[in-house]
Amino acid sequence: PSTASIPGYTYGNAEVAESPFRLDDLAILKQTLLFTEADVQYLRMAGTVLEPQVEAILDVWYGFVAAHPHLVAYFSTTQGAVLPDYLARVRARFAQWIRDTTQREYDQTWLNYQMEIGLRHHTEKKNHTDAAAGAPTIIPLRYMVGFIVPITLTIKEFLKAGGHSSAEVEQMYAAWFKAVVLHVTLWLQPYAQPGEF
Ligand code: HEM
Repeated sequence: PSTASIPGYTYGNAEVAESPFRLDDLAILKQTLLFTEADVQYLRMAGTVLEPQVEAILDVWYGFVAAHPHLVAYFSTTQGAVLPDYLARVRARFAQWIRDTTQREYDQTWLNYQMEIGLRHHTEKKNHTDAAAGAPTIIPLRYMVGFIVPITLTIKEFLKAGGHSSAEVEQMYAAWFKAVVLHVTLWLQPYAQPGEF
């Protein structure tokens, strides 16, 4: 399906800022995460398994956010009113992120969009893409890191649904974990002082 219909999804567009992080930096970061070419192949396998389940996965993740007032606050006005349009627009991009994570090549265009997603969680761009009203202007770093746990652990049941062997499920699960950590790490660039990332 075309990504042109996803509001605010600007992957590969000219207005996406260029990441200061380059492909040779990425290669070394991948080594640090034990992320190899085999993981790319298991992510492709995971993509096939997850594709028909994307909405069900988002139901779990959005349910998790909705169940925690300190998280849903980031999709709400400062008075605490939830912004349904903001939630819906971000949900469509989140669905595409599952596809991108499992299907895209992690090239410079991909790196640039990771910078963009980092900025969108940070004061520099949070709320801008969706013109969201009055919501907090940053997702705190501690929740960015903490959210790795639910985004990782909850995927296991969905990976099991594809009829693959338990060994393959474990490999897909490990590849997913590495990919999530890789993404969140890159997204934290705007949170670091110059020279600290
Ligand atoms: C946006 C994933 C942590 C709240 C997004 C998007 C993705 C995503 C894929 C859409 C990116 C795009 O615009 O194309 C993740 C992952 C996280 C994480 C994988 C950590 C593992 C959090 C946390 C919160 C949060 C802890 C707090 C509730 C938001 C909000 C937006 C957003 C409010 C919209 C930002 C904007 O205004 O553009 N996230 N996120 N995220 N996320 Fe996260």
